[in-house]
Amino acid sequence: MKLIYFGAGFVGACSAAVMADSGHDVLVYDIDKIKIQMLGSGDRDTIEKCLFEKGLGDMLVRNTKRIVFSNQIDDVAGAVNEADAIFMCLPTPDKGTDGGSDLSFYENAAADLSKILKTRNDSTQSKYVVIVNKSTVPINMAERASEIFNFAGVINLGVVSNPEFLVEGKAVDGSLKPDRIVIGGKSERDFAVMRNVYQRFITSPTVKYIEVNPREAAAGKLLANYYLFSRLISTYEVMGRVAESFEGIEFEKLRDIVSSDDRIGKWGFYDSVYSGGSCFIKDSKSLKKQLTETGANVEHVKRMLEGNDFQLNNFYARAKRDAGFNFADRKVTIMGAAFKRDTNDIRNSPAIKIIELLLSDKVKEIRIYDPAAMPMFQKLFDTAKDERFKIIKYFNTEEEALSSSDACMILTDWPKFRTLGETIKKSCPAPYLILDGRRMLAGQFDELSALGYDIIAVGSPFYKGNKK
Ligand SMILES: NC(=O)c1ccc[n+]([C@@H]2O[C@H](COP(=O)([O-])OP(=O)(O)OC[C@H]3O[C@@H](n4cnc5c(N)ncnc54)[C@H](O)[C@@H]3O)[C@@H](O)[C@H]2O)c1
Repeated sequence: MKLIYFGAGFVGACSAAVMADSGHDVLVYDIDKIKIQMLGSGDRDTIEKCLFEKGLGDMLVRNTKRIVFSNQIDDVAGAVNEADAIFMCLPTPDKGTDGGSDLSFYENAAADLSKILKTRNDSTQSKYVVIVNKSTVPINMAERASEIFNFAGVINLGVVSNPEFLVEGKAVDGSLKPDRIVIGGKSERDFAVMRNVYQRFITSPTVKYIEVNPREAAAGKLLANYYLFSRLISTYEVMGRVAESFEGIEFEKLRDIVSSDDRIGKWGFYDSVYSGGSCFIKDSKSLKKQLTETGANVEHVKRMLEGNDFQLNNFYARAKRDAGFNFADRKVTIMGAAFKRDTNDIRNSPAIKIIELLLSDKVKEIRIYDPAAMPMFQKLFDTAKDERFKIIKYFNTEEEALSSSDACMILTDWPKFRTLGETIKKSCPAPYLILDGRRMLAGQFDELSALGYDIIAVGSPFYKGNKK
């Protein structure tokens, strides 16, 4: 089939790569010229520098014959004559504080697309095409999108909702072995097109192929993210708090007991300083806003969002409350800028929030190390934008970042941070404060505190360094 993608971000690039790998011809269009150049470079390292997703570089290199990247709308204009489906993978960030989705990226792309769809097949518009909403969108978005295209004079098209469930860091692998594919459509014709698109998975015994209406598909996506988010927040706020508040209880032991019940399931039982990323918070806010507009009670959703913020603020405040540590004039090392392991995505990363707190507490220096996300961070904390960012320093190794600091905060669960205890012992002699926002050093808390380190960890009571 002939497919077009609008948006070459995490979702667009990964989904398009898997489509090309499934034998379809794919054109990926994005307005970001640099991204297009890097993703279309045919060089694995360049691709992964742009989008750090395991397997993406290899897959794109393997399929260069079937996938083309372009930032030229004229290329799309040529391709729409034969396109079977056009995937909309545009950002839908939250806007303002009320949780409403900023649909301007989608609407701008739809406006550009409308112009060229109208002129397809010498303006006869004879080829039927399906617009596929892969972005996470409001529940009534398929209807709104149909209106946009119809109003612009586009005919002979269908709009389906096909939400994406990929997990960043495992996006390619996850797209090759999805749990489910959800198609929200209105006509048999649209379902038939989508069955051809997803032919690779349709008979797979491990993939649930679900056909519903567009509203159910969009609502199901928001709910799936909300359930995952609320599982995390319950873990932080209840299981974590129990383990922090009672001496002699290990978080991991509680997790083993609770999660061995099949009815409860295994996912989401890890303690963390914050649930970040581009989706959970945004989608929960969007759900809250849409439900509020119907007059429904949204206390539960509201409470989860507050619980996430509380978790981060409480973790930070424990430095002073538990360890008597004042950040003013101190050097603090941040281990991990990405919102989680295996990605260079920093959207809603805990490190961003923590740095804002450290800056307002007038810290002397912030020393950062992350194996993948530092370039993104440097762009965000651009010293040309704000003089205060000058105290943020970037280091190529854990050792360099730790040396001469007064405290370190582990904020990302990169697997290699599990051995940070040894590096800390070498680079930062006690007394020294370790703030473990991911329980990466949980197996070593007793040993480190016996050596004199003060430890504040999510899911543990305060460990006072014994040597003091
Ligand atoms: N990242 C995830 O883990 C994930 C998972 C599931 C669903 N989603 C949803 O998928 C959507 C996309 O997310 P993402 O993480 O890929 O976003 P992203 O920001 O990584 O990528 C979006 C891309 O769209 C491009 N773009 C913006 N305007 C455009 C236009 N007019 N024409 C062409 N391209 C344009 C941007 O340049 C960018 O490269 C969002 O709605 C998100 O909520 C994301």
